[in-house]
Amino acid sequence: MVDISTNTGGIHSPNPFWLASAPPSNTGDQVQRAFDAGWGGAVWKTLGTPIVNVSSRYGAIHHFDRRIIGLNNIELITDRPLEVNFKEIYETKKKYPKHAVIASLMVETKEEWQDIIKRSIDAGADGLELNFGCPHGMCERGMGSAVGQEPAVNEEITSWAKEYSTVPVLVKLTPNVGDIVPHGLASQRGGADGVSLINTIKSIISVDIDRMVPEPRVGDRATNGGYCGPAVRPIALHMCAALARDPRFQLPISGIGGVGTWRDAVEFFLLGASTVQVCTAVMHHGFRIVEDMIEGLETYMEDKGLATMPDLIGKAIPHYTAWGDLDLNYKVVAKIDEDSCIGCQKCYVACYDGSHQCIHLREGAVRLDPVTAAKLKARDHMGVDWEARIPFVDEQECVGCNLCQMVCPVPNCVTMVEVDKDESKPLLTYKDFQRQEAERKAARKG
Ligand SMILES: Cc1cc2nc3c(=O)[nH]c(=O)nc-3n(C[C@H](O)[C@H](O)[C@H](O)COP(=O)(O)O)c2cc1C
Ligand code: SF4
Ligand code: SF4
Repeated sequence: MVDISTNTGGIHSPNPFWLASAPPSNTGDQVQRAFDAGWGGAVWKTLGTPIVNVSSRYGAIHHFDRRIIGLNNIELITDRPLEVNFKEIYETKKKYPKHAVIASLMVETKEEWQDIIKRSIDAGADGLELNFGCPHGMCERGMGSAVGQEPAVNEEITSWAKEYSTVPVLVKLTPNVGDIVPHGLASQRGGADGVSLINTIKSIISVDIDRMVPEPRVGDRATNGGYCGPAVRPIALHMCAALARDPRFQLPISGIGGVGTWRDAVEFFLLGASTVQVCTAVMHHGFRIVEDMIEGLETYMEDKGLATMPDLIGKAIPHYTAWGDLDLNYKVVAKIDEDSCIGCQKCYVACYDGSHQCIHLREGAVRLDPVTAAKLKARDHMGVDWEARIPFVDEQECVGCNLCQMVCPVPNCVTMVEVDKDESKPLLTYKDFQRQEAERKAARKG
């Protein structure tokens, strides 16, 4: 039996799955239903001086039958009175003492920080999350990402929070910066107990081309919003790993951005996160997704022989290097499985027009779309010379880019196979290569 309980900067939870600060954690009723469904923690919808929200507020990118691969919002922080939020935090904590309840906070002045921190702790919050990330609305008022983009301000406000707080303080970082590391280090200097990342990415999701107004539309006006959901996961993973691999950065990380399945979560854990937070996937599918996440994580850990979360956290970090440390002697080539190939030739077109022209057609081959090709195969080829339709790879020329494997519609039909694996070709990094070149030049001169 594996133990998936976790500790992020002194905040303990029965499992590493938390609701992110967002609409799903807006009320006590929602957070309590989420805990009943299995979530281990919740970061409450950001508290501050209550605001007025606009209508409409969300926009999305859909990809054919897949809804919401990217979500954009122009919502601000809580629009409910603070005393109502604190009462519900108190009730939730009383009912669920073992679950993590974290108060997300965003105010302006030092006095306001002192006041809201005291009230959050009095209400029973297990930790605080300073929202230095919101990229719309609040940043125009000098808060959110306006703080997160300035390391000196981030450090100063973090140190105020640490001065006033008796519970752990996480800083939620904005991805709207060139390099996340100086911002994580600023929070560390301010005394933070951990960081959470990412908040949303400043963006315009789309434009209504009939009305000629960007979306989401508020009458005939619109503004930039914050982007999240599956589409942002690669950016979030990179930022998480950039901090986790920096030897100067020593804080725990709560990973956020596009998590919707146990696999997504495991990717964050492997890259250094000790918990993950989820917003879009819950807005899309509801609280119940956590059941699969817990089961999937436990099964994965059992399969890998990992007993506790610390056994898993950061396991991929030693494998993440600078480009200059990659092995120039490592080589893979594409191999086509002729038995499962449907002869659609998508790989041929992709390699011919978009890569290195090393997939070839046999003589007499006719190009067909995948649907027709599948039909023909099902009907015993209808007299078409099937063998002629299956392309082949010139392995000498193949650079191993993976493109044909990615465009092939048949699972496992194209595989990338290691070649030239012999002792005479030891690891050669670009840094080694440069050094060897310099030595060769020097020898020629000498
Ligand atoms: C509608 C909406 C409202 C949000 N409100 C907040 C907020 O009040 N405070 C905050 O820190 N983050 C807020 N976020 C950002 C999320 O907490 C999270 O960082 C982001 O959505 C990325 O996670 P995801 O890809 O799982 O959605 C909001 C996101 C959405 C979509
Ligand atoms: S894309 Fe895949 S199925 Fe289509 S021809 Fe190439 S290998 Fe065969
Ligand atoms: S891996 Fe790249 S270069 Fe090699 S055959 Fe496929 S598309 Fe062409």
